[in-house]
Amino acid sequence: MADRFRIQNNLETLRDFSAPGEEGTTRLSYTPAYRQAVDYLKKEMEAAGLQTWEDGVGNVYGELKGTDETAPVILSGSHLDTVRCSGYFDGQAGIVCALEAARMLKESGKPLRSSFQVLATIMEEGARFPNLTGSRYIAGENGEAQLDTLRDQDGVTLREAIRQCGFSGNLEMTCRKADSIKAFLELHLEQGIRLESTHTDLGIVETIYGCRWFTVAVNGATSHPSTPMNLRKDAGIAACTLISELAALVEEHYPNRATVTFGKFENHPNEINAVPGRTVFSVDFRSGKPEILNELEALLKEKLKAMESRFRVKTELTLYSDVPPTPCCAEFSKILEEQAAALHFSTLRMDSGAGHDAMIFAKHWPAAMIFVPSHNGLTHCPKEWTDYGNLAKGADVLCAAIRQIDKLD
Ligand code: HGY
Ligand code: MN
Ligand code: MN
Repeated sequence: MADRFRIQNNLETLRDFSAPGEEGTTRLSYTPAYRQAVDYLKKEMEAAGLQTWEDGVGNVYGELKGTDETAPVILSGSHLDTVRCSGYFDGQAGIVCALEAARMLKESGKPLRSSFQVLATIMEEGARFPNLTGSRYIAGENGEAQLDTLRDQDGVTLREAIRQCGFSGNLEMTCRKADSIKAFLELHLEQGIRLESTHTDLGIVETIYGCRWFTVAVNGATSHPSTPMNLRKDAGIAACTLISELAALVEEHYPNRATVTFGKFENHPNEINAVPGRTVFSVDFRSGKPEILNELEALLKEKLKAMESRFRVKTELTLYSDVPPTPCCAEFSKILEEQAAALHFSTLRMDSGAGHDAMIFAKHWPAAMIFVPSHNGLTHCPKEWTDYGNLAKGADVLCAAIRQIDKLD
């Protein structure tokens, strides 16, 4: 059975690899804290008897060799990067539980046919480079071009960030071949309240909601606050008006079917006594239905047009990331569900409002997800929490499902 104290020790050590001076855990991709976390994780993987390596963009693997080196591998893991001021379970719990499953497989003395690989992905969060970029490189959706076109908010290219963090940038050994992976399993916090509120042990994910991210720039004219309201080109008021109208529309017309979030908002010159001449903000749409994401995009464009004439401003809309709603592999979801039942854990079938690496894997290989309860549904904040006993249950199910999938031809 999984050892909750090993899980706790790994997570509480990883927690502290974080940017100084920020509350919670802030571990953006390619930062010194990220490098420390990679080095620690590799040591823990090697201590568990796994062979480790980093791919060209910074995804980290730990492998438990199977008896048949030609068989496609079974992969499990999640992301090692966090958003700013995050908790220390989002992503990391999936890596640590996969590592705990590897320890149990090794300790059982009964090797699998397929090799089992524990994976820690990079750039899953969109905090520095577009979200899911690490998995996109594994899947071959990104290549050399993006190393020079993707830049962070300071203008650092992905290629430069990779080099600064000591990764090779060699894409040869990064992209995985189509027939090389038998299954990808990801354990993750639910990041919602359904499991905890229904006292259910584990969630089996059916569809991972799609997410569509935009950056909106509103260009008006900086002027003095004494400028009459009908003469100014106030980018800030224009942006705030659009945001409140769009939020109200989504709340009224798409309850429990879509969400919109404006997480980033910057005025320029951002002074008390200056009408902002330029305002830049982010738009994050989520829905389980592609047609709803399309409707929301059309609504946004309509609102932007109306804003231009009403406030005498110009607007620029840039698509930053677009991942469609993604179904998980039914066969492997059933195996997770059956193995949980065999261990007398209750389960609930549910969708995921949050995005995950499994969305990219599922486009290329069979991928399934298992959720553990999130306390009060809190996430992306220092109060994020789940009981280590929940993680031990998840690791036990993961281990049993890996064994079961290994038996399949
Ligand atoms: O944005 C998300 O859904 C996830 O936290 N990356
Ligand atoms: Mn997250
Ligand atoms: Mn996550």
